[in-house]
This record gives sequence, structure tokens and C-alpha cells, in this order.
Amino acid sequence: MNMKKEPLFVAFSTQKGGVGKTTFTVLAASYLHYLKGYNVAVMDCDYPQHSINAMRKRDTQQVEKDDYYKLMAYNQFKSLGKKAYPIISCNPDEALKSANSFMASTDQEFDILFFDLPGTVHSAGVLQSLANMDHIFTPIIADRLVMESTLSFSLSINELLVNNASLKLKGLHLFWNQVDGREKTDLYGIYEQTIKEFGLPMLRTFIPDTKRFNKELSNERKPVFRSTLFPADKRLVKGTHLEELLIEIANIIQPQGLWQSKQVSQK
Ligand SMILES: Nc1ncnc2c1ncn2[C@@H]1O[C@H](COP(=O)(O)OP(=O)(O)OP(=O)(O)O)[C@@H](O)[C@H]1O
Ligand SMILES: [Mg+2]
Repeated sequence: MNMKKEPLFVAFSTQKGGVGKTTFTVLAASYLHYLKGYNVAVMDCDYPQHSINAMRKRDTQQVEKDDYYKLMAYNQFKSLGKKAYPIISCNPDEALKSANSFMASTDQEFDILFFDLPGTVHSAGVLQSLANMDHIFTPIIADRLVMESTLSFSLSINELLVNNASLKLKGLHLFWNQVDGREKTDLYGIYEQTIKEFGLPMLRTFIPDTKRFNKELSNERKPVFRSTLFPADKRLVKGTHLEELLIEIANIIQPQGLWQSKQVSQK
């Protein structure tokens, strides 16, 4: 009898390019897998770039050539007692099939599978993959063009999928990314009102615009933020709202062994 646990399927997704899909997929996967005791896998369906796979290659090379990172990796994996999370390259139209055959091919159990999908909702295959997520989280930037594109994407998904009770998808949540400055300006209030009128749920946490999001393993051995082998460094997480975002997400998706914290601010 197969008693394997059913992982949750989660995607950071939107049709708009360059708003943080891949970045948040990696940040969430690494934080939850290396720091919070979950077992995750990543389906890299961003064909043909496969940017997460490429990132893993860079990360691995950097660790292999640098004793400083080598020791860091050695210590981390020794104390974790598990390996780096798997990253599976797949065709966006066959994301589900690939995920299922991957899971059937391993004895490992997973709490969450993250899917990095391309933004082409016009492709039936991608839409089908999105329909089979448990949850979708959509980064949005306060810019008119991004707003228009995101609203049309989110509304289509909402209408087509969320309101169809027979589908797996339970919900789509928007969240602000690349917020300029430490506080949100009035513009956000106006946009939020529109989003609310459309009945689209938004996360409370917003993510500021900061250079840290581009910090990977490097020859300078500086603390690392975005990596497929390590969680974002604690010193860099401060002020990015990453932890708050992930707590809010964990509370929504409710993985088994829910990691909860009271630190979520009620702004
Ligand atoms: N909060 C942030 N502050 C500053 N830079 C950010 C932030 N979020 C993302 N970025 C940067 O924005 C760029 C685009 O991010 P990313 O590649 O994750 O987007 P994407 O949606 O996956 O893009 P694509 O559509 O090309 O797949 C990256 O250089 C990333 O580091
Ligand atoms: Mg991407």
C-alpha cells in the first residue's frame, strides 16, 4: 500500500515577466527546506532557460571551488541529515506529468513541490498546470502596465479555476514586490482598492525593493541571499520581510507540521 504523503503544489506565478517568480520560488524553497524542517522539491518548468537549474549549477560550482562555502555546506548538510532539494527540469505543458513521475521514482517524501512556470496562460498546458496547483502566489509591482497584466491574469485564473469547485486550486493571492522605500505610498492604497473591488485576495506582507535579492554565492564570500543550496542569510533577511511573507504563506497553505510564528505583523 502506498502511504506516501501528498505534497502541496505551490506556484509563484503571473504572466508578467521579471517580477520575481523565480526569485521567490528559490527563496521560499531554500528557507523552508534548509531552515524550517520541510522537504521540498522544485519543478523548473521555465523552458527553455531553466533558470533554477542554472542557478543550482552556479551554486554547486561556487561551493566546489571555494573551501569557505565547502565547509559551510558540509556543516549544514551534516546537521540537517538530508540533501539539497531536487530541482527537476520539465516542459511547462507537462509539469504535472513530470511531477508525478518524479514522485513515483523516489522513496523520498515531500511536503511541498514548488513550480516555476512561464507566464503564458494562453497555452492550454500551462493553464492545466496552474489548475492543478493547490495555491498560487502572484508578485505584483505598482506600475500601471504590471497592474493591468497582473489583474487580467489573476482574474482569468480566478474565474476559470478558483470558482470551479471541482478543480484542485484553492486560491490565488497577490503580494506587493519591489516596493520602493520602507513604507507604501498612497498609490498603493489606490491600487489596493481596485484589487479589492475585483475580489482578489492580497497578502499583508509587502516586499521592499532591495539589492539583496540579487546576492548569490560569490568569490567575495559575502553573506548569501538567493541560493539553491543555502537559506537566505539571517543578517540579510532582516528588513526584507521574507520571513513574514513565508509565515503568511505557510498559514495559508498549511503544510503538515505547520511552522507558525506570532511574528506576523498585523499592518
Ligand atoms: N524585491 C526585490 N528587490 C529588488 N530586486 C528584485 C526583487 N524581487 C526580484 N528582484 C529582481 O528582479 C529580477 C527578476 O526577478 P525574477 O527573475 O525572479 O523574475 P521572474 O518573474 O522569474 O522573471 P521571468 O519572467 O524572466 O522568469 C531579478 O534580477 C531579481 O533579483
Ligand atoms: Mg523566472
